[in-house]
Amino acid sequence: MSSAGSTAPVGTLTKGTVSPERPVPAHIERPEYVGRPAPEKYTGQDVFDAAMVGRIRRAGQLAADAMVATGRLITPGVTTDELDAFAHDYLVERGAYPSCLGYRGFPKSICTSVNEVVCHGIPDSTVLADGDIVNLDITAYIDGVHGDHNVTFLVGDVDEDSRLLVERSHEAMMRGIRAIRPGRPINVIGRAIEVYARRFGYGSVHEFIGHGVGPAFHTGLVIPHYDAAPDYSQPLEPGMVFTVEPMITLGTRQFELWEDDWTAVTRDRMRTAQFEHTLVVTEDGAEILTLPNEEA
Ligand code: MF3
Ligand code: CO
Ligand code: CO
Repeated sequence: MSSAGSTAPVGTLTKGTVSPERPVPAHIERPEYVGRPAPEKYTGQDVFDAAMVGRIRRAGQLAADAMVATGRLITPGVTTDELDAFAHDYLVERGAYPSCLGYRGFPKSICTSVNEVVCHGIPDSTVLADGDIVNLDITAYIDGVHGDHNVTFLVGDVDEDSRLLVERSHEAMMRGIRAIRPGRPINVIGRAIEVYARRFGYGSVHEFIGHGVGPAFHTGLVIPHYDAAPDYSQPLEPGMVFTVEPMITLGTRQFELWEDDWTAVTRDRMRTAQFEHTLVVTEDGAEILTLPNEEA
């Protein structure tokens, strides 16, 4: 099923020019994968004690504070490279490493995904225009742990179909999070997301998943954003930390990769939106760890 009759623009985005690599001061602790082709295999847990959750919460708050501050710059005329520069400096000035930079060779500090870009857009000279939508995915590494967060923003005056897509993508993520209870299978999350998306004829991308996060950027724990039952039936446990980050499409959920091997665009070039929180499973639900710190 597709969202027939959508009047949202169909995209024609092309790659811009990527600026030179931004330096990170030597005193900032780097994740182990920086300067290597891929991360080491993670052999640790996905369930953490309160002290470790506290560290992930601080990394998550910093990512969320960076999101609020960077989001304020979003206006027609700004380039995605300018957003990357600001978020990079924001994190580095607060002692954090921008986790995307050098992750499997990713060249920039955040992901910026415009319009038909599903995820992993590389910041470049692309100028945001009135009516665009743009996702910022910001991950902070500090005190040995990552906090991973993304938000889709409206640029200026956006058409109603795109606005509804963005609003409902946020609600899809929140429904996934609200489905979390200890003892339930992991696949309840994706079911809640996909059932909600389908109501509007939207797709939910299968291939990009939520993931365990903490000492590793991606621990290997998989959180599908679709109804994967009877697979992924591992029970949720208090102290488990992972992301929920559905990518919701106005049209097809199929995508293709640009030549840069990162930028995923919908096959039909219709728009797509995403939201992401890092969270911990509690005794009776979930606590979001990527909320801004009000004192910041
Ligand atoms: N932050 C993304 C996620 O939600 C991962 C980005 S990897 C990068 O998992 F290399 F593209 F930065
Ligand atoms: Co993530
Ligand atoms: Co992310």
